[in-house]
Amino acid sequence: MADRYLHFTGTTPGRFLTRRLGLPQPAPLRRWTLETPTLDGPLLHLTAGHSAAPDLGPVLAATGLKVTGQAERPAAVVLDATGVTTAAGLADVHAALHPVVRSLAGGGRVVVIGTAPSADDHHQAAAQQALEGFVRSLGKEVGRGATAQLLRLAPGASAASAESTLRFLLSPRSAYVSGQVVELTADAPGEVADWAAPLSGRTALVTGAARGIGASIASVLARDGAQVICLDVPQAQEELVRTADRLGATALPLDITAPDAADLIAAAAPGGLDVLVHNAGITRDRRLANMPADRWASVVDVNLDSVLRTTDALLGAGTVNRGGRIVATASIAGIAGNDGQTNYAASKAGIIGLVRSLAPRAAAEHGVTVNAVAPGFIETRMTAAVPLFIREAGRRMNSLSQGGLPVDVAETTAWFAQPASGAVNGQVVRVCGQSLLGA
Ligand SMILES: NC(=O)c1ccc[n+]([C@@H]2O[C@H](COP(=O)([O-])OP(=O)(O)OC[C@H]3O[C@@H](n4cnc5c(N)ncnc54)[C@H](O)[C@@H]3O)[C@@H](O)[C@H]2O)c1
Repeated sequence: MADRYLHFTGTTPGRFLTRRLGLPQPAPLRRWTLETPTLDGPLLHLTAGHSAAPDLGPVLAATGLKVTGQAERPAAVVLDATGVTTAAGLADVHAALHPVVRSLAGGGRVVVIGTAPSADDHHQAAAQQALEGFVRSLGKEVGRGATAQLLRLAPGASAASAESTLRFLLSPRSAYVSGQVVELTADAPGEVADWAAPLSGRTALVTGAARGIGASIASVLARDGAQVICLDVPQAQEELVRTADRLGATALPLDITAPDAADLIAAAAPGGLDVLVHNAGITRDRRLANMPADRWASVVDVNLDSVLRTTDALLGAGTVNRGGRIVATASIAGIAGNDGQTNYAASKAGIIGLVRSLAPRAAAEHGVTVNAVAPGFIETRMTAAVPLFIREAGRRMNSLSQGGLPVDVAETTAWFAQPASGAVNGQVVRVCGQSLLGA
């Protein structure tokens, strides 16, 4: 279902009318293409007071943007606020960004670099936590398709640990991600031979890959060089085979809730899996008072229990290779809750619990990271079936005033999946245009 409002506001009468009526004016987002792989303009690199971070210069230069200390119309602003350890020090954040924020280019990026709030120093913790509120508010202010994020570096971490994340956040790939806080570990990032095909030689399995977000994830992972196995229910076999054929991928018709699902996945990947994406999901909406047990059970089984079962079995059997990446799909409904979705929101909040608990152990015992994407309103068949009024509210009630596209979730998944994202672990990143739900 096309977003006609977004199209209308792009026309001259549409712009005039929506401005007069004070209606949202979504800016068309620029996504990654082969022809336009980077943002359009220089990167302004600033420091609030002094820096406590490693030298990020070479990593920022690797984004392909011209890094400068002064720019009239920056496409990106990176503010190093790692040295801010007191409330008074926050004035340096204001002093650095106040003069430049108005000149940020449309579709631009602000990334504030911080460190983890300390458990032993409440002044440092207050100052670093303050950056979170700052960035989330700035994300709502910048407008014109621009975004703002906070990236926390682990104490003592190398600049290289942040490279895959900075490349993602400072590129068109993160168009629909805003107001997010990403916390990196001090772990080694992992080698990348070729940034244009970072998944080359890797095998990835995507569940629910016949259509929608899953098909887009499979497509982006294949673009990044992975050999992809597309899994979906046998009833969707025709669509599944079409999607897989288009990508030079393998089709695996299988219900992920089947008791032998993990065995069949392992058999389909004799060399093991480097990337495992749990994307399959269903909704069976009803208010709790009207919800029969079978609607509850099917949603929890597909969205959560099967993810737990297959993850345990595939990790336990060593099917997920060392350096592997597990990415699960949560939802902002699992963060904010949603009327009529107690079953769905419970299952998606469960995914967040799984990710946070398993991530450190999976890294220590198997060398595998575990992260989640939490999509907001994404234009798919699932959301096309939502009643018109709720659909329009879902599209507009976020800082970018529009729905996301499946590719936005796919790009975020691909960033988690990169070999170089070894320091990205236990994160839940919302792909929701900074939705007011769960804000
Ligand atoms: N579309 C959104 O706005 C949105 C928002 C938040 C979260 N999500 C989540 O993103 C994921 C993908 O959503 P979508 O919008 O592409 O949905 P979709 O319904 O278009 O696609 C889901 C796919 O999963 C498959 N699937 C369902 N049950 C399965 C099973 N038991 N075994 C194997 N495959 C199964 C379906 O056949 C389908 O191809 C889901 O987990 C969903 O909950 C979507």
